[in-house]
Amino acid sequence: MLENLPYFRRHLENDLRRVNEVIDRAVTSEVALISQIGSYIISAGGKRLRPIMTILAGRALGYEGDKLYSLAAMVEFIHTSTLLHDDVVDESELRRGRKTANSLFGNAAAVLVGDFLYTRAFQLMVGSGSMKILEVMADATNIIAEGEVMQLMNIGNTDISESEYVQVIQYKTAKLFEAAAQVGAVLAGAAPEQEQALKDYGMYVGTAFQIIDDVLDYGGKPEEIGKNVGDDLAEGKPTLPLIYLMRQGSETAAADVRHALQNADRSRFETIYRHVAESDALGYCVRQAESAVQQALACLDTLPDNEATQAMRALAQQSLARVS
Ligand code: IPE
Ligand code: IPE
Ligand code: MG
Ligand code: MG
Repeated sequence: MLENLPYFRRHLENDLRRVNEVIDRAVTSEVALISQIGSYIISAGGKRLRPIMTILAGRALGYEGDKLYSLAAMVEFIHTSTLLHDDVVDESELRRGRKTANSLFGNAAAVLVGDFLYTRAFQLMVGSGSMKILEVMADATNIIAEGEVMQLMNIGNTDISESEYVQVIQYKTAKLFEAAAQVGAVLAGAAPEQEQALKDYGMYVGTAFQIIDDVLDYGGKPEEIGKNVGDDLAEGKPTLPLIYLMRQGSETAAADVRHALQNADRSRFETIYRHVAESDALGYCVRQAESAVQQALACLDTLPDNEATQAMRALAQQSLARVS
């Protein structure tokens, strides 16, 4: 979608190439296993949504310098390190269409290389010389860790409310989108209201993005999403489709979901998948995501109307396009 915009070919493509150059340089280490695992996950691709957000936020406010590249790479490193850790925690086997680092190299190596990328990200931040950016990222990474632990505490929780779920996804996922946009804004010397608008934009897009990701765990195809489906249920994660079924599904569906969450394993996926498919669960989730995207778009109304903000509109819509 973004690739179809003239702006992509004229500007963003080149910006992303520069970001990828920083990433490739920064992922290397004298320690062979670090370079090996780091390159393994980085070269598998990924959509680069968060660094794109940093670049677009900076460009939207007229920033033309080069510092965006290392900071966009920094944001992708934080993201990649959370993926390495997350796949250990979730015992996932497929990521970006490849075997996960933990399944190929073991949990210990995946965690430690995740730490390497995480700390490399802080080195890149320090290189920016901006205390404000360090503060933004220190706060964001702290919140992400809280979100992951909150989620852990909610494993098997059949009483979780929708607002508790939203808080978890805003912490574990949307916070990094928010920080990604804010970093671009700070670099561009944004006025306080512009910085806030870009932060909120990132938060809403990230919220929509994670809701859709949770939909895809039931409705996606592994060859398209590059991850296995059914991981969330196998882990006993009460995501929005299941919260919907427990609250608004048939009595049988609600009882089956409760039972599946409390006795989590892969064997119940077929049954739960059928309940999801036969109900409005995914439709409901998509509508919630759409509403977050509308709020994201509204944030952009206060910013200058230019090609970068237009690309940000397309990016917000793209977070929904994965299910259509
Ligand atoms: C995966 O994020 C983790 C979530 C927050 C759902 P992405 O889907 O952006 O991962 P890549 O970088 O494109 O692989
Ligand atoms: C990803 O959460 C969020 C972080 C990496 C912090 P999930 O566990 O829901 O994402 P996937 O499905 O593994 O990508
Ligand atoms: Mg996971
Ligand atoms: Mg997870």
